[in-house]
Amino acid sequence: MIRLDKYLSDASPYSRKEVRALVKRNAVTVNGAAAKSADMKINEEKDTVCVNGTQIQYRKFIYIMLNKPQGYLSATEDDRDPVVVDLLPEELKHFAPFPVGRLDKDTEGLLLLTNDGQFDHELMSPRKNLFKRYYAELDLPATEEDITSFAEGMEFKEFSAKPARLEIDPEDPRKVWVEISEGKYHQVKRMCERVGKNVLFLKRIAIGDLKLDETLECGNVRELTSEELAIFGW
Ligand code: URA
Repeated sequence: MIRLDKYLSDASPYSRKEVRALVKRNAVTVNGAAAKSADMKINEEKDTVCVNGTQIQYRKFIYIMLNKPQGYLSATEDDRDPVVVDLLPEELKHFAPFPVGRLDKDTEGLLLLTNDGQFDHELMSPRKNLFKRYYAELDLPATEEDITSFAEGMEFKEFSAKPARLEIDPEDPRKVWVEISEGKYHQVKRMCERVGKNVLFLKRIAIGDLKLDETLECGNVRELTSEELAIFGW
């Protein structure tokens, strides 16, 4: 059981002060009856709370899928550049989500955001060994030798890249798919550079078994479904 003002300030954009004002105006109902006071106790599992007739489901944590466009930093704020959090509607910003891992400013595609530190920790944990799948366009055609180089892993000055999978589009060998289980700085671009190719376009299309929802336009977001969360054991 929690207080009505806490329930609504956790689960909606209203502050506790605003909740008190709404209650005074009879704009809040609990199980169909006008709430009498902002400190009345609510059962988060059973009670139905509405503000101006719209039901507010109780939740503390949110899990968001973003189809990231180019030009945005994977950050919550920055002095110079736009950040991915700018793309969220106010009702999601209210939960103070942050990106799970990073995509480069010029990389597009699947980025998750959450305010659940444990979820972030779980997905970022190296022992989870989650594969991330990318689609890339290169300046030169990829070759069979490149597939072997990726599969052997690569040594860089600051890190070693574990074996990765490279698939080549048979119709156009400048188009490739890369799967890596880590997320080292510029990893896909650097692995491609190592085999003599520059990445001209990069898009993440999956994290483990979670695929980017192709109906989600670039720059748009939606919350993850419970089936999608279950992919990560959540
Ligand atoms: N590898 C890169 O080089 N850039 C990204 O944004 C992600 C993986």
